[in-house]
Parts: sequence; C-alpha cells; structure tokens
Amino acid sequence: MKTSDLYKIPPGSTIGIMGGGQLGRMIAVAASQLGYKAVIYCESREEPAVQVCLDSIIADYEDQGYLEKFISMVDVVTFEFENIPAKAAEYLSSRILVRPSPEILFISQNRIYEKEFLNKNGIETAAWAELSKRNHPSEAIKKLGQNGVFKTARFGYDGKGQITFYGKADLDKAWGAVDHKLAIVEELIDFKCEISVLVARSCTGQTCCFDVVENQHKNHVLDITIAPAAIDKGTAERAVKIAEKVANSLSLVGLIAVEMFVLQGGRILVNEIAPRPHNSGHWTIDACHTNQFEQMVRAVCGLPLGKTQRHSNAVMRNLIGDDVENWKQIISEPENKLHLYGKKDIRSGRKMGHVTRLVPLTSQWNRKSISAATFFIG
Ligand SMILES: Nc1ncnc2c1ncn2[C@@H]1O[C@H](COP(=O)(O)OP(=O)(O)O)[C@@H](O)[C@H]1O
Ligand SMILES: [Mg+2]
Repeated sequence: MKTSDLYKIPPGSTIGIMGGGQLGRMIAVAASQLGYKAVIYCESREEPAVQVCLDSIIADYEDQGYLEKFISMVDVVTFEFENIPAKAAEYLSSRILVRPSPEILFISQNRIYEKEFLNKNGIETAAWAELSKRNHPSEAIKKLGQNGVFKTARFGYDGKGQITFYGKADLDKAWGAVDHKLAIVEELIDFKCEISVLVARSCTGQTCCFDVVENQHKNHVLDITIAPAAIDKGTAERAVKIAEKVANSLSLVGLIAVEMFVLQGGRILVNEIAPRPHNSGHWTIDACHTNQFEQMVRAVCGLPLGKTQRHSNAVMRNLIGDDVENWKQIISEPENKLHLYGKKDIRSGRKMGHVTRLVPLTSQWNRKSISAATFFIG
C-alpha cells in the first residue's frame, strides 16, 4: 500500500488525456468539476474532447517532439482508448506518471494477451484459439468446432474486425479479408445475458465497483444498458468478485470495465476488459452518487474513491448514426437526460450521443416497457 501517493496530483493540476473521443470529453468535464484542467492529445481538431479542454495537441501519437510538449503541459497522463501506440505509451511513462500503467494498456490492446492474462489468473473466458502462421483455421476448428466468432487480435471495437463463422470456408474468408493478420477464434456463446462491472482501484489498493448492469447489443455494438442487471444476488456478487480480481491482478490504478457473459445456470465468462471509462457506465452520470468519469479522475490523481451508490434505476440508450436526428423529440420529453458528443458528421455506426432514463428505486418497473418509444428511436 503506497499511502504516500495519496493526494499526489491535487486539484489545480492538469491531466493529460491521450485520445480525443467522447470518453475523453466526459473525463475532462468531470476533471473540471473537481478543479482540474485537462489537455487532450489526439489526431484531429474535430474530435469531441478538444471542444471542452484547456488546450490540445493535434499530432501523430508517435511524434516525440509533440509528446515532449504534452509532457511539459501536464502533471499526469491517462488514456481514453486502448489503441494508443505502445511506443508512445512507453515514451510517456519513461518521462511522467502514466495511470493506468502502459503494461495494462498492452494487455488490453491484444485479445491474445488479454485472454492469456485472464486464464492465467484463473478467470474463465470462452474457449479460444490463436490464428497465426503456425495455427491455421483447420487446427482452430479441431479445437473449437465448426462455428464460432472470429476476431482480429488488435484494433477491434464496436464489433469491428469480428465475424461469426459457420464452417471452415467462412473462417478462411474472414482471415483472408484481414490479410492473415494475428487473430483469434472463440466458441460461440449462447448466453442468457451480457453484463459488465466497472471497478475503480485507487493508489492505496482500495477497490470500488458500480452496480452490475445488463448490456444489450445490436450488430455487436452496445445499444442499451439497464441498471441494475436482472440477475440474482449470487450471480451479481460473483461478477463483482471477478471484476475486483481483474483489477487487483493488474495492480490497476484507475478504472476498468469487465464485460461478461452469463450462461444458463449462472456460470460467468469474461468477454473483454477495457482499462478506461466504458459506454456501459454512462448511466452513472445521472444515476449514481459518483459517476464513472469522476471516479476515474479520483483514482488517477490519487484522491480517495467516491461512493458509487445508485440513487435511481436507469436505462441508457446509445444514439448511433441517424438516431441523433431525433434529438428534438428526445429532449422534449422532460424525463430524458440527453448527452450529445458534439460530433459534426453523422456516420452510420458512429456513436453520436446517448440518452438516459431514470426510474425511482421504489417504483415497480417493467424493463421491457422502457423501449424505443421512450427514446423516439426505431
Ligand atoms: N464468443 C462470442 N459468442 C457470442 N457473442 C459474442 C462473442 N464474442 C462477442 N460477441 C458479441 O459481440 C459483442 C462485441 O464483442 P467484443 O468481444 O466485446 O468486441 P468489441 O471490442 O467490439 O466490443 C459482444 O458484446 C457480444 O454481444
Ligand atoms: Mg466489447
């Protein structure tokens, strides 16, 4: 326990955020509420976080000159997405405090390292196999069966680089389409539901989870998060234990999301981990005592963690692509909490914002009734 790290980065300091997306934007807003400043490092002035920050550096992630300039402007560095080049993360951590540590970033950047790390620590995942020059589809299929999910080892998000395959011909095609780059195949899981747990871990090793939530995906992209998940107490407790084990095994200082599958009968498999705020935690902005972004800032800056208690039940729906064109109807419903990310161009599949609906803890609620109609989305 390093209590000397407590209050190391006090309010008034500047947090450097690698990445300029909506997560960076919401981290910067939370930081400002605690009296911190934020500087963004990203590749385009059009990115959402740039609009809300003290300053920004628009440059290639590996440009050492700009990385130096960034270091001179900030007191601690964090990241809002995993795909920061390893070289940049290593360079930064040789010069300044980086939280979470680059080693955690590297594990989460590559599905092979990620699953090896989880399995090594006794955390169950879907059965998986590597596809590589040594291990061809025919070998993988021998181990896992004819049907499964193909995933590129790196740079996958929102279902990108992912294909459900039915037979070897499909799998050959999927691997060919990415030029036989390193990939994995996983058994196709027939889950009862998908859940996630967000856990923060402070510099003193204190951990604190948010309530377990249920996530519903459309085309492999998160559509709806419901808080809390409709699972029994025992399953929820096991999910929280798994998330804490992940955070402790990584010696994390920061926040991590652990995505899981719940099978019939209650068995839990971890799907993936993301060492940063997560889309399935956006509901915490409106429904919790401390939200995921503030909690991350607290952990990264060495402040004690805040209480994560849920004061309302919540349903969060993503506004993807054209959905955002319904913003007038959404905001005209006074109970809807609308969050827009300031992205200029609407593109299919692009996360443009989200909307959260709160439900008092005491009211009887029918989860299914909070549907497309409430959010004016088809
Ligand atoms: N092995 C699997 N079996 C069934 N569904 C899966 C499997 N892997 C992924 N999925 C579905 O695809 C979604 C996205 O996959 P994930 O591995 O989380 O990648 P991403 O990095 O794109 O979020 C999951 O949340 C789940 O709905
Ligand atoms: Mg995922």
